[in-house]
Amino acid sequence: MAQKPKLPPEALHYDALVIGSGAAGLTAALNLAEHGRVAVLAKADLAAGSTAWAQGGIAAVLDAGDTVAAHVEDTMVAGAGLNDRATVEYVAANASAAIDRLAALGVPFNPGETVSERWHLTREGGHSHRRIVHVDDATGWAVSQALIRAAEAHPNITLIPHMAAVDLITHRHVVGRRFPARRCHGVYALDTQKRRVVRILAPATVLATGGASRVYLYSTNPDGATGDGIAMAWRAGCRVSNMEFNQFHPTCLFHPRVRNFLITEAARGEGGHLKLPDGSRFMQRYDDRLELAPRDVVARAIDAEMKRLGLEHVLLDLTHLGADFVRGHFPTIHARLLELGIDCTTQAIPVVPAAHYSCGGVMVDLNGRTDLGGLWAAGEVTQSGLHGANRLASNSLLECLVFGQAVADDIMAQDAADTMPDIKPWDESRVTDSDEEVVIAHNWDELRRTMWDYVGIVRTEKRLERAAHRVKTLRKEVQEYYGNFRITADLVELRNLVTVADLIVRSARARKESRGLHFSTDYPNQSAAALDTVLDPAQGRDA
Ligand code: FAD
Ligand code: SIN
Repeated sequence: MAQKPKLPPEALHYDALVIGSGAAGLTAALNLAEHGRVAVLAKADLAAGSTAWAQGGIAAVLDAGDTVAAHVEDTMVAGAGLNDRATVEYVAANASAAIDRLAALGVPFNPGETVSERWHLTREGGHSHRRIVHVDDATGWAVSQALIRAAEAHPNITLIPHMAAVDLITHRHVVGRRFPARRCHGVYALDTQKRRVVRILAPATVLATGGASRVYLYSTNPDGATGDGIAMAWRAGCRVSNMEFNQFHPTCLFHPRVRNFLITEAARGEGGHLKLPDGSRFMQRYDDRLELAPRDVVARAIDAEMKRLGLEHVLLDLTHLGADFVRGHFPTIHARLLELGIDCTTQAIPVVPAAHYSCGGVMVDLNGRTDLGGLWAAGEVTQSGLHGANRLASNSLLECLVFGQAVADDIMAQDAADTMPDIKPWDESRVTDSDEEVVIAHNWDELRRTMWDYVGIVRTEKRLERAAHRVKTLRKEVQEYYGNFRITADLVELRNLVTVADLIVRSARARKESRGLHFSTDYPNQSAAALDTVLDPAQGRDA
């Protein structure tokens, strides 16, 4: 069981603070804990992030016929040339070692089917080889459980669930020094059960808070994917980039009750077909790679067919693969669909695209360093240069593992920090309890609908302009509310979501071309130069 220390009103001190208990955060924490006392915060249960929901698996070159160069090229092609080649090479080269470390922690990857194959490798869109190591169709759960078990057993790690980081503590919060050095000293965090804000201080803070796909009405992500780390880093003065690249997964279950259940890309990798209600296939009209084209291509094709025919969904058909094969390869999906009255061995599955992954985020270098001293970041919260304009399937968990380790190595190589300065306590003297919680629920819905309708798979200048207008009004209202009322977990998330929505819209408006996941009918062509969209809080405008 996770330890939940008794929190005194004064500040808690650690050698390192990790915000997030997914693959990125726990990888960093397990490595940091070899050298000091580490606190890991999670705003809900420890396994409530996207990591535990991952299905398909982790990309790594593990087959003798495959090469790191091919993995690099596939990643660059999917990313439409916007990737940073050095980052892609670094991550691909470190992939097999990362898988070995997980296996050593007890992740039961599916074994290979021949003696020469250590693990079974599945195929996903955009990969030129079978390259995805997996645990059936519930890889993330197995990875998450192994990492949590290891962290719980480590004497140097204190796990603190239900503790939502509100804002990073920086030089602005130092008491008594006239010109404090610009750096991060930890975080103000809301104990969501006791409803009070505490200071958690450390010379090294790691943001591993995951992505922001819940900024959209329909998403494959868990509730907490609200971009908290991106918004906190932005407020603390860090640049963010490529926020316009929101990945829509082509095959989220379409069901009146269950809106965020993914049907893994491996289902298409293993031969599943996308079909219209009349039973015909349509991907041949969009891409020679058919169902295995990169996600942006498949999601846009589905969107176009739904709009052309006025459909609520298309179909993913696995029935021709055979009942035993489907049950054997996709046991979790098969069982979940049966609960919902769909037998995918005999019936096609209704699917729609839904927001799945944030390619943009806090800018980091190869060590995971952000613009702010004392602050590192890893995983989906970052823009490391790996994904470019579109993430290749199963490269995300890999990024978490490789950068989680890189961040820890870099922190441990730092000189011992100065003694911690005196930090101002959280000030609640000018706020009261809200008597209008309805404002939060209303603004939350309006924001997510606005993003879905105006900043979705296919964009236009007019729609982006509308979105900018709406988001500006919502930001103002949420800011006002935040200034007047005592914070709650919902308010913390909404405040971050409006910031992230604003960053996405600004980035989308700045890109005057179509590239990867950003497709605009007003600028349908790709420019010759591949340039990141960098937003700099110091300038308040695009850098
Ligand atoms: P997460 O795992 O999302 O963890 C975020 C952590 O931060 C959580 O512990 C959360 O509580 C904490 N947190 C957030 N905000 C705060 C705050 N304010 N205060 C305190 N804590 C906070 N990728 C692949 O590579 N392969 C796959 O097969 C795959 N399948 C996927 C299937 C689904 C349904 C989804 C949603 C994603 C999938 N992805 C997959 C993407 C991948 O799972 C994620 O990108 C990855 O797990 C992100 O890990 P992370 O450690 O960065 O963040
Ligand atoms: C999936 O299993 O389709 C998700 C894989 C990913 O997001 O990388």
